[in-house]
Amino acid sequence: KKGGFAHYMLKEIFEQPQVFYNTIRGINDAPLPDCNRLRDPVTVVACGTSYHAGLIFKYLLEECCQIPARLDYASEFRYYPPPASGLVIGITQSGETADTLMALRLAKAHNCHTLAITNVLGSTVTRLADTTLYMRAGPEISVAATKSFIAQLAVLMQIVNRFRGNSQTETLLEAHKAIEDALLMDFSETVGLCENAQSIFYVGRGPFYPVSLEGALKMKEISYIHAEGYAAGEIKHGPFALLSEKTPVIAICMPGETYDVMISNIKEMKARGSPVIGIGRSGDTDLPEICDLFIPLNVATLFTQILTATVVLQLIAYHTAEKLGRDIDRPRNLAKSVTVE
Ligand code: F6R
Repeated sequence: KKGGFAHYMLKEIFEQPQVFYNTIRGINDAPLPDCNRLRDPVTVVACGTSYHAGLIFKYLLEECCQIPARLDYASEFRYYPPPASGLVIGITQSGETADTLMALRLAKAHNCHTLAITNVLGSTVTRLADTTLYMRAGPEISVAATKSFIAQLAVLMQIVNRFRGNSQTETLLEAHKAIEDALLMDFSETVGLCENAQSIFYVGRGPFYPVSLEGALKMKEISYIHAEGYAAGEIKHGPFALLSEKTPVIAICMPGETYDVMISNIKEMKARGSPVIGIGRSGDTDLPEICDLFIPLNVATLFTQILTATVVLQLIAYHTAEKLGRDIDRPRNLAKSVTVE
């Protein structure tokens, strides 16, 4: 059943190039129903990993399309004033998460148009929302979400591309090759730095901040090592007090406007004793010098950087949990879909 893999999680991680490809193709064939509605106020609601996809979407909408977007944890949505009108997008792999369903019900009660992005045909959210877009991840067995996150990003990136008016499907499809390359990498040295950690900090800026949050969530839920995702600039506003040789830092440092300031953040964290694992573009000459370990990625576009860094962090969490002998597919205290508020 696991197709020769030790765990469903690893199998699902390896399915990602195909899942990404299928989802982009699927979205491309189905005309995006409510793209024009993105001109109305946009609110996104989701939980957990799906919330992290929402955070990346918010960044891309604002940065690439100049569309402001509000993002709420679905469980918090009702405690804030509801949007007066516009589009409310619920992102949910299972389509059954109680908090997300509740938020969408509330949005409908306030006359907002609702769009669901889900993986499960016929799930509750598809009956609730005005429109549904499907990610084509196939059934996800492992409790930790991996391929469904990549499929969510595929849907959301394709929406962004459509809205920008450039049909960059071909460029986007190239990302699936970069994801494949990431799957072939060896993470044993990284696991060596993480397995005995007291706590691990994941840091990035801009779109790599939500990628850091997702990396940390994967690590904590399957390895039970405490991990925090942080906007890199925030570490000095408190968490500096925790840094030591027992708190490795995983820093995503890609070329672009955040590069220089990330380099100085990494130096600050190293100076406080933390071993630093840098994830960046292959050919980078600064990162190998200042980091204890450097993970080079072949990445050309922003979308590819986001996708491949995500896959690398999934694999680091997986291999660390495996080294520690954890019950990877069924971590303690967790369920695949959370049907209580
Ligand atoms: C983490 C994880 C959870 C889910 C969250 C939302 O690996 O799986 O954080 O992402 O419970 O679930 P869905 O997307 O089904 O609404």
